[in-house]
Amino acid sequence: MRDTLRRTLALGVGVVAVLAAFAGQAIAAPPSPDGGTPTPMVVGGTQAAKGEFPWMVRLSMGCGGAMLTEQLVLTAAHCVSRTGNNTSITATYGVVDLQDSTRITRASTYVHRSPTYDTATGGDWAIVKLASPITGAALLPIATTAAHNTGVFSVAGWGATREGGGQSRYLLKANVDYIDDTTCKNSDPYYADLIPAAELCAGKLAGGVDTCQGDSGGPMFRRDDNGAWVQVGIVSHGNGCARPENPGVYTEVSTFAAAIKQAAADLGGTPQPPGKVFENLNNVTIPDAGAAVYSNVTVTGIAGNAPSTLKVGVDIKHTYSGDLVIDLVAPDGSTYRLKNSSGSSTPNVVTTYTVNASSEVANGTWRLKVQDVYSQDTGYVDAWRLTF
Ligand code: ARG
Repeated sequence: MRDTLRRTLALGVGVVAVLAAFAGQAIAAPPSPDGGTPTPMVVGGTQAAKGEFPWMVRLSMGCGGAMLTEQLVLTAAHCVSRTGNNTSITATYGVVDLQDSTRITRASTYVHRSPTYDTATGGDWAIVKLASPITGAALLPIATTAAHNTGVFSVAGWGATREGGGQSRYLLKANVDYIDDTTCKNSDPYYADLIPAAELCAGKLAGGVDTCQGDSGGPMFRRDDNGAWVQVGIVSHGNGCARPENPGVYTEVSTFAAAIKQAAADLGGTPQPPGKVFENLNNVTIPDAGAAVYSNVTVTGIAGNAPSTLKVGVDIKHTYSGDLVIDLVAPDGSTYRLKNSSGSSTPNVVTTYTVNASSEVANGTWRLKVQDVYSQDTGYVDAWRLTF
């Protein structure tokens, strides 16, 4: 059956090869027609993998956002006009390619714009309420303290890939450095009116890497001490994009966490607190059409049973995802099927499954069981994690 599939799919290979040639650089535009160097593409970023930042949202007015609850998207105030009913925004979720047919879309019903936006207090944040929840959507917890407003941050978006450039069809990602308020204020006259309590600067003082127009409203995030992603910023503004000595300015989420939570509650939602993450980053080779392989994660310090929404993040590199059968094995040996084999020729399994593990004691050794059940393609478990 797989051979038939493979032959049927052979026609597609040319397209895939062309896309692969662009991966990591210019996706928005083909190499420059004059034959010159392709423009490096978020500016200075690389393409994100599907499932890598599952809570990312593209909003139709040309902004980014992050899933705050299953029905609320956190974005920037400057991306919306006012608080009130609003059915004009479409949110796209679940894909890196905005034209991917598996994308999930929802229309908006209501917008809450931060009441302090455009005041001396600052607060470039807004919440877009969707017409219906995206059930099971991945959520990005917001930082509720300033503890993580430092270090290296990640940013992602479908915005311009260079100053003045077009939007990207594919989600791009980049890492940016924390830049303290004083350095930021003094970096260029543009930054003189920075609001230190409300804004967080990040970027590369040497230039070259930054968010840009169309990334606004999207999250800036990092891992917390437990390894969980937490949102520390919202793309807000900057002087051009990726210029040397001109950082990106982000809404300081921790400052507004209480107001965001209150607004979410008023809109009928509760943001998810950051979880505790247990992961295994060791590679495990998956033999072709062979025996199942296991990767262990030992959970400690969690009282009682596992949650009914246990998150199982899986990162498997494999040339043919349909070959794989994946299970989660609880400490007592109970097995939960995460994925069956199928005809899907898509490479890799990078996704987060939600498992009702409420009848399992949390502490103990959990195992990811992976078996390749068809011959030909191979791969390895790159990483996997449990989030409690
Ligand atoms: N205001 C822009 C937008 O609406 C975001 C600009 C971010 N600029 C920067 N240099 N980081 O998309």
